[in-house]
Amino acid sequence: MFTINENYLKLPGSYLFSDIAKKIAAYQQENPEKEIIRLGIGDVTQPLAPVIIQALHSAVEEMAHGETFHGYAPDKGYGFLREAIAKNDFQDRGCRIDADEIFVSDGAKCDSGNIQEILALNNKIAVCDPVYPVYVDTNVMAGRTGGYNPKTQNFDGMIYMPCTAQNGFVPEFPKETPDVLYLCFPNNPTGAAVTKAQLQEWVDYANRNGILIIYDAAYEAYITQEEVPHSIYECEGAQTCAIELRSFSKNAGFTGVRLGYTVVPKELKSGEISLNALWARRHGTKYNGAPYIVQKAGAAVYTEEGKAQVKEQVAYYMRNAHAIYNGLKKAGYTVSGGVNAPYVWLKTPGNTTSWDFFDQLLKTANVVGTPGSGFGAHGEGYFRLSAFGTYENTLEAIDRITKM
Ligand code: MLT
Repeated sequence: MFTINENYLKLPGSYLFSDIAKKIAAYQQENPEKEIIRLGIGDVTQPLAPVIIQALHSAVEEMAHGETFHGYAPDKGYGFLREAIAKNDFQDRGCRIDADEIFVSDGAKCDSGNIQEILALNNKIAVCDPVYPVYVDTNVMAGRTGGYNPKTQNFDGMIYMPCTAQNGFVPEFPKETPDVLYLCFPNNPTGAAVTKAQLQEWVDYANRNGILIIYDAAYEAYITQEEVPHSIYECEGAQTCAIELRSFSKNAGFTGVRLGYTVVPKELKSGEISLNALWARRHGTKYNGAPYIVQKAGAAVYTEEGKAQVKEQVAYYMRNAHAIYNGLKKAGYTVSGGVNAPYVWLKTPGNTTSWDFFDQLLKTANVVGTPGSGFGAHGEGYFRLSAFGTYENTLEAIDRITKM
């Protein structure tokens, strides 16, 4: 008789954003006349930029003819895209990253969940608290943690690094030294960013202690401050301790198209074993590549026109971020984020819990956000608003919230 992976039973019934979607659907069904504004999940609302649409159309046309048709994509992604990524995202910023260290995929969520597969089960994992739930949940599924502890509201066996107002939402080195450390900057959910000097300290700490950093840079396009690094490879020595995850979802609106990539430097080793070779083995075995038409669309992002058009979209969302930040601040809320990230992190008023504030906002203002406690125990009493709505809806939402 078959048995299941019991680690799954340690997890709450559904994924944070699925839970929220169910709550919204239930409310909308009972109140069909209400116009709900969704600033919850970080999903984009602007259409794909014209140059991306052109690239998609012409790639579709290529697929219609024998001479230009494409079947399976190369395991690591097409050379034209990996070369464009290596040059534009890394070499032009002074980072020593080559195309053969890039693995193209269908998005950073999958990569951030899958990457732990090449690591042993006895690795001790450290995460920020609050944190993007995928890092935690996938390590729970793999069996690297104990059960959920209702007292700490966290999983036993996982190291949590509190990110609080006191430390500016940037964690300190944990008391217990981990083997693997997840960092995400600019941060989801708090919107906090680190300077290059701060990130260098983490890289040095990791190299000193033989720690692997899994660095999620999905929101790098939103950086506005000079001293904030776009890639961990801007730091000296990151090649020997860090994997970086990148996405086309937030910078170029690919949430529904799906494209991302992971950087695994050749110098990154566990003893004599190359992680690049291991990830190549895993990728080649379990993945048949992002579609040709999507990779062509991705390459269009790196053309001069593409860069200008996606920059405009990022600016559009950042205008929303500023409107949320300023509007709430003016109304007396304690807010942070929104400067180098498309998320604003606010303190819920009084002693309201994150989920109570969620319900209040949904029912009174018909606005959806994300409860901070859904990202971890230290998110309790906080709330995340996304800047990915339309400008008009964002202004309307702020108006409704501040009148509440
Ligand atoms: C979020 O809202 O945190 C993100 O959209 C989730 C994701 O990118 O998977």
